Amino acid sequence: MNAGHICQKAVNNLFITITHVLLCGYCYAQQDPAPQINGPRLFGARPDKIFIYPVPVSGAQPIQMEAKGLPATVQFDTQTGIITGKIHTPGNYPIKLTVKNKFGKTTRVFSLVIGDRLALTPPMGWSSWYSYGRNVTQKQIELTAKLMKEKGLQQLGWTLLEVDDPWANQPAKNNPVWAELKTRPDNKVYRYYEGPDNLTTRQGAPRDGSGNLVPSSFFPNLKGMTETLHRQGFKAGIYSSPGPLTCGGAAGSYNHELQDAKFWSDMGFDYLKYDWCSYGVFAKDTSRAEYIKPYKLMAGALQQQQRDIIFSLCQYGMGNVWEWGNEAGGQLWRTEQDIRDNWSSIHNAMKKLADKAAYVKPGNWNDPDILQIGTIGGNDEDGKKRANHLSAEEQKTHFSMWCMLSAPLLIGANMEDIDEATLRLLQSQEMIAVDQDALGKAAKRLKVMDNQLEIWQKPMEDGSFIIALLNASDTTITSNVNILNFELPHLPATITDLWAKQTAHFPEGDIPVNIPSHGIVILKCNN
Ligand code: GLA
Repeated sequence: MNAGHICQKAVNNLFITITHVLLCGYCYAQQDPAPQINGPRLFGARPDKIFIYPVPVSGAQPIQMEAKGLPATVQFDTQTGIITGKIHTPGNYPIKLTVKNKFGKTTRVFSLVIGDRLALTPPMGWSSWYSYGRNVTQKQIELTAKLMKEKGLQQLGWTLLEVDDPWANQPAKNNPVWAELKTRPDNKVYRYYEGPDNLTTRQGAPRDGSGNLVPSSFFPNLKGMTETLHRQGFKAGIYSSPGPLTCGGAAGSYNHELQDAKFWSDMGFDYLKYDWCSYGVFAKDTSRAEYIKPYKLMAGALQQQQRDIIFSLCQYGMGNVWEWGNEAGGQLWRTEQDIRDNWSSIHNAMKKLADKAAYVKPGNWNDPDILQIGTIGGNDEDGKKRANHLSAEEQKTHFSMWCMLSAPLLIGANMEDIDEATLRLLQSQEMIAVDQDALGKAAKRLKVMDNQLEIWQKPMEDGSFIIALLNASDTTITSNVNILNFELPHLPATITDLWAKQTAHFPEGDIPVNIPSHGIVILKCNN
């Protein structure tokens, strides 16, 4: 088979029929009882920094686990599957993992990559923001961990739990910080509308006698919480702002950057989301230097700590953050204002990234925001849980496209009310593998056919390509799409529909598709 561009003749000789694209919507397999090692095949950590990597393992319990080839400074907990420790010398450390239960045994080689890059694959887990909003509590975080274990999500790699805003005390209404922010002139750099100053049950001294942030009474034991999460195979994430107040009006890190970084490291956190918010009144102008400044400061503070802490930049894409997020010390950066559960919001977020694949690589991820799937609503005005406004089809497209974009995957759904359809999305090992691929390339949009059918292409480490056919129109598309439109360097030997889990057959290189409005088909073009 010729390595150049596919010629029509070769395509015509292909005998493949994608009947399932026409016939099958969702076809989900049961969870396999045989033991399986999931998650990416590598993990990055810095020299001499404490890291934690929970190996995601699925299958029927009890499962026995074993890790061979670990350096002496690293431990593997055979009960929890957690690899933790620190390594002095940069390099690649291959670890042989073996898991077995009464249904079988499997082995996989996994690499610890010690160097200057973290988050070699996009962070994956859950954020409290869309489910609990400003009512978030430590109890809910711990409950979420328990539920994510029970639902088998931790076992598939959903291992980060991010405590979003607000966890720290909110300065009381008479604290001078409110007046100070209100009287500062609007300098046009994302004006901060002083946030809500009404979290009355969360108000109190923002810092203690030593200057440390004070968690609200809803977070009575931060350290205990991270220990609980770690014990259950999760990493712990926390939230703050470079300004004196977060978006929710809780205390931020302004002028306390090093102290706060140390506090989070001491408390056992592995991830920080750093949200611009009230910093807007301190930025002098909209120059790149002013945008970078507060993030570089915190990145430097984090890097002085004993632990590796992944740094998530949240400033809604201002100043083309994708161009300098890496220079500012971030591993991921929000490219967008907060998204909502409606089609135009999520479609705009993905379209914005149609031409930004070049900024994505292992350790650098465009972040179009938390997944709007399942029961959400915690951050609505009334803070009440509610059904998602996206249809099931739109949620599937949303999730699929985040995987295509190699986006961080943080679940917005409330785990207490998780429904079967949402769970099935999150349990798709095929789609997770697309997101977590070690090549770390994001999809680019190749074309939009007839102003309706979008074709996106993502290269994978094994030489295959993933193609997304996305129907952005308001009606079903029934058509033939020719494989030439996929711009592949090779003729694929086979094509697999990743949602239908079927390897396809179609004649003449024309793929018959029947895609509902706002629906998607994901095709893996195998070598
Ligand atoms: C901003 C961020 C959200 C969330 C809230 C919390 O709006 O963009 O993701 O963190 O703040 O207040």
